[in-house]
Amino acid sequence: MGRFDNRFAAVTGAGSGNGRAIAEKLLAEGATVAALDLNTAALTEAFGNNPKVLHVECNVANQESAREAMTRVAAEFPRLDALVNNAGIAKFGTFENLSLEEWDQVFSVNSTGPFLVSQAASDLLRKGEKDHTRAIVNITSVEAHIVISSSGHPQIHYNASKGALLQLTRALAVELASSGIRVNAVAPGFIRTPFTSETLKSEAAQKFLLDRTPMGRIGEPEDVANGVAFLASDEASWVTGTTLFVDGGWTVY
Ligand SMILES: NC(=O)c1ccc[n+]([C@@H]2O[C@H](COP(=O)([O-])OP(=O)(O)OC[C@H]3O[C@@H](n4cnc5c(N)ncnc54)[C@H](O)[C@@H]3O)[C@@H](O)[C@H]2O)c1
Repeated sequence: MGRFDNRFAAVTGAGSGNGRAIAEKLLAEGATVAALDLNTAALTEAFGNNPKVLHVECNVANQESAREAMTRVAAEFPRLDALVNNAGIAKFGTFENLSLEEWDQVFSVNSTGPFLVSQAASDLLRKGEKDHTRAIVNITSVEAHIVISSSGHPQIHYNASKGALLQLTRALAVELASSGIRVNAVAPGFIRTPFTSETLKSEAAQKFLLDRTPMGRIGEPEDVANGVAFLASDEASWVTGTTLFVDGGWTVY
């Protein structure tokens, strides 16, 4: 018996890194998964012809695309038990030089995207019993809580966008509680994914990261997936509006 037998899940940004590991974890525990991504070739590479995976092209930052994606999911799935808003981007740039376009781009994917996809998925999430078996899990970041600018990568727009997602998580948790839907966040620390591969090539960056991580290793996408699976499962049936840090102790140091 898997925790997600006979459950239907959707994961955004499922073609790479954390999103791929989350989708694989939910699949391994029995779920049928809608894998949403801008990059459909990445979905093909990740999931091939697995009959339990529905490949859905989606730009989470675009309302029409989010709605079309969920219409596609609704045509195949009877309901959604779990939605994981994972798709996100990071850009670097100093405050003085940051253009409005770059600011908007990061916010549109990291903050507006989860709003648009959650809203588009809301009818599917509301199908079934109001018994708190349904869950939204948003992937924020430790950078919603702390600022790691000393690593040489100023990114106030990333920090602010993840802070907005944190508060969206808390507000939606209150809003959707009476509909039986729990809403929580996983805040990863530094995780080894294509998103961070350039940074990890630098020995100085690795040293910086390891010096600040009490557990003494870089996180893996599977660490994030384990946290998401807990929050999406019935084991978290009285947990809403909270953040699970998956960061090797970075934020307590
Ligand atoms: N890797 C880390 O260290 C780390 C740390 C904290 C938080 N996170 C968060 O984890 C999430 C995933 O990061 P990752 O490291 O796996 O990144 P990644 O770049 O490896 O994967 C991101 C995926 O999202 C997809 N995507 C990007 N923009 C999209 C859009 N507009 N619509 C749909 N899909 C889109 C990409 O095609 C890609 O498949 C992000 O929200 C990121 O902020 C990552």
